[in-house]
Amino acid sequence: MPDSGYYLRKLEASDTVQNFKTGNSSFLPLKTFLQKQAKQFQQSSIAQTYVAITGDKRVIGFVTLTCSEIDLQNGYDVADCSQANGYEFLPAVKIARLAVDTRYRGCGIGSILLDYSIALIRDRIVENVGCRFVVTDAKSEAVRFYEKQGFVLLDSEGNQSTEHRLMFLDLMTV
Ligand SMILES: CC(C)(COP(=O)(O)OP(=O)(O)OC[C@H]1O[C@@H](n2cnc3c(N)ncnc32)[C@H](O)[C@@H]1OP(=O)(O)O)[C@@H](O)C(=O)NCCC(=O)NCCS
Repeated sequence: MPDSGYYLRKLEASDTVQNFKTGNSSFLPLKTFLQKQAKQFQQSSIAQTYVAITGDKRVIGFVTLTCSEIDLQNGYDVADCSQANGYEFLPAVKIARLAVDTRYRGCGIGSILLDYSIALIRDRIVENVGCRFVVTDAKSEAVRFYEKQGFVLLDSEGNQSTEHRLMFLDLMTV
């Protein structure tokens, strides 16, 4: 890692996002989102972005959260509330974007951003609004990363072969 000092907080208008590197061209949409859309989405309350940021305000990792829901397709049983299993959709927060600058990968920033998000969801949302799951559409390359953080792949036929696979975390189990 080029330098080790960073901390986590919400994205601010003056943060530097232009130097963010995503590497592989398939990750370019993540960079485009950070550089062109994240601040506007935040101001418009469409999605909130939290960043790992250096002392000189360079974003080196980010996670974007938005409201969502999950269709468990009978692939998971909510054991402590059987009535909930009768609903097609259950409440969730979606990890809409997550990326760490290539120069800082493998140093724990991705998992720290996820832990931060889960703590935020539990403390601020679960406590005040019904919300049981965290969901994400994981690129196949990122499935193992999410599994290490406790996420599971939805066990449904169509979910095994798509480019983006639905993964979820039951907040009552962490
Ligand atoms: C996926 C990503 C966010 C992980 O961030 P990171 O800071 O490099 O991850 P961490 O250092 O916190 O890694 C945590 C653990 O996951 C593992 N891991 C990280 N990326 C992985 C990957 N792509 N495949 C398998 N394991 C991975 C690490 O080895 C580490 O394992 P350990 O705890 O046993 O040591 C980062 O690689 C990235 O930005 N990738 C490109 C964009 C992307 O795929 N985003 C995901 C949403 S689709």
